[in-house]
Amino acid sequence: MELKKTADGSHTLFVPELNETYHSIHGAIQESQHVFIKNGLHYFNNKETISILEIGFGTGLNALLTLLATESSSQMVNYVSLEKFPLPNELVQQLNYPTQLKIKATQTALFNHLHSCKWNTNTPISENFNLLKIEDDLADFQTTTTFDLIYFDAFAPEKQAELWTAEIFLKIYDFLKPKGILVTYCAKGEVKRTIKSVGFQLETLPGPPGKREMIRAIKN
Ligand SMILES: C[S@@+](CC[C@H](N)C(=O)[O-])C[C@H]1O[C@@H](n2cnc3c(N)ncnc32)[C@H](O)[C@@H]1O
Repeated sequence: MELKKTADGSHTLFVPELNETYHSIHGAIQESQHVFIKNGLHYFNNKETISILEIGFGTGLNALLTLLATESSSQMVNYVSLEKFPLPNELVQQLNYPTQLKIKATQTALFNHLHSCKWNTNTPISENFNLLKIEDDLADFQTTTTFDLIYFDAFAPEKQAELWTAEIFLKIYDFLKPKGILVTYCAKGEVKRTIKSVGFQLETLPGPPGKREMIRAIKN
C-alpha cells in the first residue's frame, strides 16, 4: 500500500495488487465531501438522529467529514462502519487530512480517536457522534439494526465485482429504513440497473470533480 497525493492535495492510498486507489485521484477530500456529505448526509439535515452504515472504513475520511459536518449541530450521529482490511496505524498516522482540512488540534485528536478506538465496540467519539467499527466482510455481515443512510464506498466494480451484485444490494436494501438512501461514487450503467432491480428508486446526480455522475438510491 502506498500513500499518494490527489489533485486537491489530499492523500489517498494506492493498492498495487488491485491497481486501484481508495479515492478519486481528482481529489479525495473533494470526492468524499461531494458524494457522501453533500449528497448523503445533508439530505437528512433536519433529522434529530441519523444512523449511517459505511461500507469500507479505510482511511476514516468519510467518518471524519461526517463528524466535522455535524459537530456544531444538535444532530446525533450513530455511525457504523464495516472494514475487512483495517489499515496499519503507521499508515494512518501519515494521512494529511488534518492539515489539508486545517482542523484544530482537538479535531485532529477526534480523527485519531476514530482510528484508535476498539473494533467491534460502540464508542462515543464526541457528545453527538457514536462510532461502531466492525471488522467483517460485507458478504458475511448481518444485522438487525436499520439505517437512514448507507455510504457505499467499496472498491470499483471492475476491481471488486463480488460487492456490486444484486444479492449484496438486496441485502443492504433490507438494512435501510423506509425512505432511507444509499449513495455511491460509482454511476456505471450496469450498477444503476442492478441497484434498480432490487427495488431502489434511482437518482443520478452530478459527480465530484473529474467524474460526470454519481448515484443516490432511495428505498421506496
Ligand atoms: C474505496 S476504499 C474506501 C475506504 C474509505 N471509505 C475511505 O474513505 O478511506 C474501499 C474500502 O473497502 C474495504 N473493503 C474491501 N472489501 C471489503 C469487504 N468485502 N467487506 C468490507 N470492506 C471491504 C477496503 O479495505 C477499503 O478500506
